[in-house]
Amino acid sequence: MGDAVRRFPNTPEFTGLNTPISEEYELPALPVEGRIPSEIAGTFFRAIPDPAFPPYIEDGAAVLSGDGMVSALRIAPGKVSFAVRYVETERHRAEVRAGRALFGKYRNPFTDRPEAAGLDRTVANTTPVWHAGRLLMTKEDGRPYRMDPHTLATIGRYDFGGRLESATVTAHVRIDPQTRELFFFGYESDGLASTKVSYCIADARGNLTREQCFDAPYCAMMHDFTITEHYALFPIYPTTCDLERLRAGGDHWVHELQRDSWVGVMPRYGSVAELRWFRGPKGVSCYHMMNAFEDADGRIHLDQCLSNVNAFPFIQRASGLNVAPGDTGARLARWSIDLRDDSECVHETTIGPPGDLPVIPAASCGRPYGHGWMLTMNPEMQEPPVAGGPVGAMFNTLLRLDLTGRPPQALALPPGHCLSEPAHVPSSQSGHEGWLLTIVDRQTGESDFTHALWILDAGDLAAGPIARVPIAHRLRPQVHGWWVSAAELAAAS
Ligand SMILES: [Fe+2]
Repeated sequence: MGDAVRRFPNTPEFTGLNTPISEEYELPALPVEGRIPSEIAGTFFRAIPDPAFPPYIEDGAAVLSGDGMVSALRIAPGKVSFAVRYVETERHRAEVRAGRALFGKYRNPFTDRPEAAGLDRTVANTTPVWHAGRLLMTKEDGRPYRMDPHTLATIGRYDFGGRLESATVTAHVRIDPQTRELFFFGYESDGLASTKVSYCIADARGNLTREQCFDAPYCAMMHDFTITEHYALFPIYPTTCDLERLRAGGDHWVHELQRDSWVGVMPRYGSVAELRWFRGPKGVSCYHMMNAFEDADGRIHLDQCLSNVNAFPFIQRASGLNVAPGDTGARLARWSIDLRDDSECVHETTIGPPGDLPVIPAASCGRPYGHGWMLTMNPEMQEPPVAGGPVGAMFNTLLRLDLTGRPPQALALPPGHCLSEPAHVPSSQSGHEGWLLTIVDRQTGESDFTHALWILDAGDLAAGPIARVPIAHRLRPQVHGWWVSAAELAAAS
């Protein structure tokens, strides 16, 4: 594959930190600097997009189409190991057989080569989801692929035992911390550019118990959603799709600044006929929600990493927009909704700084909560951030946000460093906030990087890492990750 790798375009999507690695490998024993607390026992699964073959067509969104790889950082007393393998999607297998790329632009089958006709287009590269003892590699444009959590072998496309009707499943599921049910949805659920959205629940054993379908106000990128104890919330932001544009070989997504945003709210065990739509500001964009909850008065609050325009440069270009990263109005926004009001609008307050990739303790999902973490840019850093990832610039600061009024904590990395979304590992010690695991990349030359796993006390970020695990191999940036404890893994085997 070496020759093919060298033919990747000399563009930001395929150079520097984003250079394709296209290699499955294992590192059975990694060195540990510092001491890893004994409570941290399990596997940090990470989703890594890594294209196996150079594209044959120019595509601004190519960075989203890298073949999914699943990586496992396994932590046991006295031993840390690393492995990464491709998700053997139908698409990846077909391209390996052909020895070249067969699929064209991101989510545009009209640009595919004839050999790709009828094949599953997803690359399963966004989130490794763990539920009911199953590891699923997800991407919002298709159904998940089930993986063996021990060997990382691909078991196959997953449809909940033949019960799932939706053609798509989000990469951002929610798991209720008490019932252990899996809540998820799929948009464009019956085809390209469709307004159909499927809303699904699987019980604690992973049985699909409910699937309903509703129409969104328009066909929008619905990257994330969230739940509260009693409601499901479906935010809609005006990054939109158009079938005629796709037929003409265009981009899947365009951002429309003049269009309203919306939140659909329904009882989470109710009927989609009960969905109520609340209007948000025009033109806003969000990829990830931190959490949502109901307060003592029954009001619903939805906390999200919001901005006034889609942050992806290639979506701005396709939309005729060019907003500098510092001018996007990015903020952690709380949208409050009172179902007893006649108001059909959300009420917004800013509760935090710009940032993305929010993380909360799994036990806080859908409940009132006091703190969370997210990544941001250090506003005092004079040097440019490390180039890489889908937005073109990597985050360099980790924040602990206190939502009870206390000041935030920050871990600002030195120049030339960047970090990926952390995974939270809970602690059984009373009052202990657990730990955060994150991969830190350090740029040492134009295309030279070193990488390490950093382990942080989640309640004391400023103290820096309590342990570091250097990984002596090039890594490509991850999208999302998931922590699975050793006990859960053992129970699943
Ligand atoms: Fe995401």
